[in-house]
Amino acid sequence: MSLPKSQVRLDAEHILRPVRVGDGAALARAYRANREHLAPWEPTRSETFFTEESQEEHARQCVTDAASGRSIRFVIESDDGEIRGRMNLNNIVRGAFWSADLGYWIGVSRLRQGLASRAVARVAEYARDELGLHRLQAATLLHNIGSQRVLAGAGFERIGLAPKYLRIAGEWQDHLLFQLLLEEPLSPRRERP
Ligand SMILES: CC(C)(COP(=O)(O)OP(=O)(O)OC[C@H]1O[C@@H](n2cnc3c(N)ncnc32)[C@H](O)[C@@H]1OP(=O)(O)O)[C@@H](O)C(=O)NCCC(=O)NCCS
Repeated sequence: MSLPKSQVRLDAEHILRPVRVGDGAALARAYRANREHLAPWEPTRSETFFTEESQEEHARQCVTDAASGRSIRFVIESDDGEIRGRMNLNNIVRGAFWSADLGYWIGVSRLRQGLASRAVARVAEYARDELGLHRLQAATLLHNIGSQRVLAGAGFERIGLAPKYLRIAGEWQDHLLFQLLLEEPLSPRRERP
């Protein structure tokens, strides 16, 4: 499978690149700096989650998952080496599906600057052109208007309401599901089981 080897520039200050071994310290700093900002939108995190050791383990898992083709996870990195956001393609499934789940966040210091929109567009291109996927799916909490705007801007369409879909902030919460059909004609590679 094709792995993302290089970085993509998103704006004058930020690149998008795959998570790599050695990212643990920067990831831990980013999650600590954004702990309150992300808490309403993510699973409940243990104290251990915010440590460099735990994040380095996560970074290693990301590399393993990318090599197996299960999930491909990216960071949005500023030119001074700080992580300002994440983009994840999780649960990459082929067979009759050729689909993946898209998840993301942007750090509190860089909100409303178009970073999520630019990065989602690049990840969708990558999913279409490099992975040959047919479809991306994303799920937002009902009141996550910002995320819904990002998805709408990238061309996602609403599928419907999924009751108690994800356990977020300690509760099973209803979500809106969205999908983006990646409009390429089926290639032989994509038709292979
Ligand atoms: C949702 C999130 C990713 C948006 O990131 P961002 O980089 O600020 O988004 P962008 O700057 O690309 O904005 C895209 C559009 O959404 C709008 N928008 C962004 N945040 C918004 C908010 N909180 N309320 C209303 N609109 C918002 C922008 O104005 C822009 O509108 P436009 O299309 O009319 O230009 C960010 O707020 C975040 O990380 N939130 C916490 C985690 C999260 O919700 N992750 C997604 C889980 S599904």
